[in-house]
Amino acid sequence: MTSSSQEKPPLLDVKGLSVDYGLKGVPSRAIDSVSFALRAGEAVGLVGESGSGKTTTAMAIAGLLSPNARVSKGEVRYRGEQLPIDDDASMRPHRWSETSVVFQGAMNALNPVHRIIKQIAEPCMLKLGMSRGEATARARELLELVGIPADRGSAYPHELSGGMRQRVMIAMALACRPSIIIGDEPTTALDVITQAQILKLLGELRSRLGLALILITHDLSVVAECCDRVMIMYAGRIVEDGTVAEIFAQPKHPYTRLLIESIPNPASGKKMIRPIPGDPPNLVNRPSGCAFHPRCPSVMAVCATEVPSLDQFGRGRVACHLYRSSQEDKVAVHA
Ligand SMILES: Nc1ncnc2c1ncn2[C@@H]1O[C@H](COP(=O)(O)OP(=O)(O)OP(=O)(O)O)[C@@H](O)[C@H]1O
Ligand SMILES: [Mg+2]
Repeated sequence: MTSSSQEKPPLLDVKGLSVDYGLKGVPSRAIDSVSFALRAGEAVGLVGESGSGKTTTAMAIAGLLSPNARVSKGEVRYRGEQLPIDDDASMRPHRWSETSVVFQGAMNALNPVHRIIKQIAEPCMLKLGMSRGEATARARELLELVGIPADRGSAYPHELSGGMRQRVMIAMALACRPSIIIGDEPTTALDVITQAQILKLLGELRSRLGLALILITHDLSVVAECCDRVMIMYAGRIVEDGTVAEIFAQPKHPYTRLLIESIPNPASGKKMIRPIPGDPPNLVNRPSGCAFHPRCPSVMAVCATEVPSLDQFGRGRVACHLYRSSQEDKVAVHA
């Protein structure tokens, strides 16, 4: 699709976003030049190893970065309007209204001393200006929407199962009628059956309410089931982005290939997760050039010196020197 001035802006447009954390007074880059767009109703998976910057990306978009984080570059636009993501006070009216986040581990996020109905009603009063009666009625509706009988609203969090608590978190995330839900490993702490039920619920809510979904996970099989598109992150950068069908059938980046190969597939006799050799990079000691080059089976001389840009390749995007138009420096460093 070509862009034209008449075209509607994407629902969310993240451009060249970099976030640093102050570590012992030294800023360390957690995400670097992250760019992507999200259309209304689209479901995108964000996948990568621990520390690759998935949560930081989510927090930046939702205006929930921690006080020691700084947006050093880039912007986030919602329906074409730039969000003041690095200004806590100016971001307040936007927070939870446009993009909301469902975190993992609902027990820690819910207040143990308040009944759940009160916890869901509160944002409706604060953000939507509802009276207590209106907010309670809306909270009952939201509970039913996520599959909890409204009468269970009088329960305290510890009286609910882990799956039900996660449903309460989803109800709270929906309270201010956002258009985007970010699930940050929303099912990690749950057993597989409950995990499947929560993912099914998110899928149903997505089609019923027209929500766009960013699903953060380590688990590519979850992405294959729930998402239209997948973005792969490595060391704070998006290294590949494409449709689920294309990425699973023809992964381009060597890291994506290894991630897909690491998934157990009992049908082919591969029962265990096969870890990717080498250690994930840390913020303080980031490898030069392409951060994946020390672990990459296809490494070339250029990979150690030049950061590959995330370029359009086919219908997706990939950040890898193997796919550059210039072929002359494709010399293997290792056999
Ligand atoms: N509040 C913070 N202060 C300092 N450094 C942080 C903070 N939060 C995250 N980081 C660092 O930023 C980098 C990216 O972390 P982030 O939490 O975004 O990764 P992630 O991909 O969500 O990892 P995981 O899969 O473990 O949740 C990591 O190196 C992490 O140590
Ligand atoms: Mg995380």
